[in-house]
Amino acid sequence: MSAADGLALPVRVCFVCLGNICRSPMAAAVLRAKAADAGVGNLVTVGSAGTGSWHIGEPADPRAQAALARRGYVSGHVARQFRVDEFDRWDLILTMDRNNAYDVREMAPQGSDPSKVRLLLAFDPSSSRDAQVPDPYHGDDAEFDHVLDLLEAACDGLLAALQTGTPRA
Ligand code: 4NP
Repeated sequence: MSAADGLALPVRVCFVCLGNICRSPMAAAVLRAKAADAGVGNLVTVGSAGTGSWHIGEPADPRAQAALARRGYVSGHVARQFRVDEFDRWDLILTMDRNNAYDVREMAPQGSDPSKVRLLLAFDPSSSRDAQVPDPYHGDDAEFDHVLDLLEAACDGLLAALQTGTPRA
C-alpha cells in the first residue's frame, strides 16, 4: 500500500456516523488519545461528522461522554454535519456502518476518490471486513461500552496500518 491509499503518516481522518453525537465523536476521542500515546499525535488530524442534521451544535450524547470518561478519554465535542466541500480535505473517511458509507460516497464530488470512504471496523483484524459499529442511540451503558471496545480495537489496527503503511493481514 502507498500514501495514495491514505495509509501513511501524516494523515487526516474523519469519522462519520449518523448523528455525530455517539459513535464518531467517541472514535475521534479514542484515535486522538492513541495517536498521542504512540507519539504521533502531531501527524494525525482527527475530525468527525454526521450524515444527519438533527444534532448540529450539540455536545456528545451524555452516555457517550460517560463511556469515554469511564476509560479516561477526553472529549470536547460539538456535533456537525458532513459537507460535500470537505470530501477532498480528508485522506480517510471512516464510517461506522454501511449506510453512512453509502451516504458519504453519494456526496463525493466529481473526480474525487470514493475509495477513501471505508468501514472503520475493517481496520480491526479480529472483525470481519464488512463489520459495522452498531448504533447505540437506543441502547444502555453496556451498549456504549461495547461500542467503545470495537472503536478501541479498530483504532489500534488503524494506527498500526498507518505506522507501517500496510493494511490489515
Ligand atoms: P450516532 O448515533 O450516529 O452514533 O451519533 C445516533 C444519534 C442520534 C440519532 C441516531 C443515531 N438520531 O436518530 O437522532
